[in-house]
Amino acid sequence: MNKNSLLSMHDLSTNDIIHILRDASLFNVSYSDWQLPCSKALVANLFFEASTRTHYSFESAELQLGCRVADVQTSASSVTKGETLYDTVKTLESVGYDAVVIRHSQDAYYKELEGINIPILNAGDGAGDHPTQCLLDLLTMYQEFGTLEGLNVLICGDIQHSRVAASNKTALEEFGSTVRFSGPKEWEREGYEHVDFDEALPKADVVMMLRIQKERGAAIQGLSDAEYLKQYGLTKERYAKMKENAIIMHPAPVNRGVEIDTDLVEAPKSRIFKQMSNGVLVRKAVIKRAFGYAPFEEKK
Ligand code: CP
Repeated sequence: MNKNSLLSMHDLSTNDIIHILRDASLFNVSYSDWQLPCSKALVANLFFEASTRTHYSFESAELQLGCRVADVQTSASSVTKGETLYDTVKTLESVGYDAVVIRHSQDAYYKELEGINIPILNAGDGAGDHPTQCLLDLLTMYQEFGTLEGLNVLICGDIQHSRVAASNKTALEEFGSTVRFSGPKEWEREGYEHVDFDEALPKADVVMMLRIQKERGAAIQGLSDAEYLKQYGLTKERYAKMKENAIIMHPAPVNRGVEIDTDLVEAPKSRIFKQMSNGVLVRKAVIKRAFGYAPFEEKK
């Protein structure tokens, strides 16, 4: 496996994370025009699961860095003829691609890819990890609070199926923040501290709402969208009880009127669209790192 791959937040030390977040921030100011040498930047994007934000923000980041990009149509590839994921990725490596970005429904799919030499960037694996989403979440929190230490983060909803919850727990606890979870009992996850939403919400710095992952089989019989919002979602009444400086986050896609009241998606405390813009900056930093470039020096 290439050492510059990014597969899981467990692969990154706090120092690595700080370097990526700093590079992402510098891409927004003094290094906005920085590009990779064209001859060494052929990137293939393989999305075996639906995606808007991750797919197109990776593509935006790649194009901004001067990469040439192959958007592999997985439904029209030889995967449909029974080819393994390993053989597909090995083929892309053999025909000249320098890096691959992969989203797949299987947890830790990358364990099959030990024999691949080019960097692999994980764009989400089942309910496993979503490292670039976590990095953009960390950047958004850092911009807001100037630190990742001592934050009180409340993640609400379908915890069991959420790779976003898993990645954020790993990273935020490493930095010394407290991460607690709430939502339906059916979707609690072992090893995660579950708390009462209404008790925890007024103390939280960050309230991160999650979508119900229906594609992973999440469903509660007989619970309507309106009832879900009332019991587990961010309603206007709950919003009014948030701390003055607290923020709302959501990895999106958002199911308006289910996990969050539609009027709150762009409310003053919401950073949901800011998270998406930060996604491009973070992915530029991760791609730069994948190609072996050291962290930027601050320009004087
Ligand atoms: N947050 C996220 O991963 O969104 P997409 O599924 O649209 O990529």
